Amino acid sequence: MDQLKIAIFGSSGAIGSALCRKYIQQENVEKVFCFSRQITEVKHEKAHCFILDYLDEENLSTISSEINFSFDIILISIGALLNPEKSIKDLNVEKFNNMISANTLPTLLIGKYFLPKLNKNRISKFASLSARVGSISDNFLGGWYSYRASKSALNMIIKNFSIEINRTNKNSIIFGLHPGTVTSKLSDPFKNKNKNYFSPETSADYLYNVIETKTKNDSGKIFDWNNQEILP
Ligand SMILES: NC(=O)c1ccc[n+]([C@@H]2O[C@H](COP(=O)([O-])OP(=O)(O)OC[C@H]3O[C@@H](n4cnc5c(N)ncnc54)[C@H](OP(=O)(O)O)[C@@H]3O)[C@@H](O)[C@H]2O)c1
Repeated sequence: MDQLKIAIFGSSGAIGSALCRKYIQQENVEKVFCFSRQITEVKHEKAHCFILDYLDEENLSTISSEINFSFDIILISIGALLNPEKSIKDLNVEKFNNMISANTLPTLLIGKYFLPKLNKNRISKFASLSARVGSISDNFLGGWYSYRASKSALNMIIKNFSIEINRTNKNSIIFGLHPGTVTSKLSDPFKNKNKNYFSPETSADYLYNVIETKTKNDSGKIFDWNNQEILP
């Protein structure tokens, strides 16, 4: 059985840490590299944890240059939902930029330094956690200008990555994931009693299965926890 090396960025978050634990449990996983802006509380012999500022190119460049092996799977579970505007009247430029910094730029910069680290010799995967609300065709409610726009931009970046990497690494598959509605620091302020929330563990179980099924034809696309494609 192939022994896999996994990288998870945002490993202190609810879904990120659940994904770390899920991959650690797998027999075919040799190591899980956990990247977070803070200390990751995943303690296991397979886990190697790094503190990383996703927006600091020097920090990204140093860490990636120290890595002299390839990853089979790179997952990014980074994001925030602040200032969920109900109307354009609520828009604040600084907060809009914060949403781009939290939801869009980390994947863009991690891609810059870590896409070259994807395994070229066998199938490798790079996925970032997006959100259904980033879909333009699925937008029936409006609102949440900054969060929606930051995730739509993320989806475009995922598509671009899939096109560009195809020139240098035919074995890699790049896609986005919607984790469902999941209990976390991000979703807590919007908790709706009438809605069902997945635990982070349940979402990680679903996402694991989705990631397992992905093939080259799926590159550049976005999938939900139930493995249904979310159209742009
Ligand atoms: N929860 C949901 O219902 C839901 C629904 C749809 C999509 N999502 C997406 O799922 C992903 C994971 O979210 P989660 O629910 O697990 O939330 P979470 O527990 O709040 O984790 C999000 C992680 O993102 C990183 N982060 C937060 N703010 C940041 C900032 N300003 N700059 C850089 N990094 C920042 C942090 O990672 P570190 O502290 O480890 O650095 C944080 O732990 C996000 O992309 C989110 O948009 C979640």
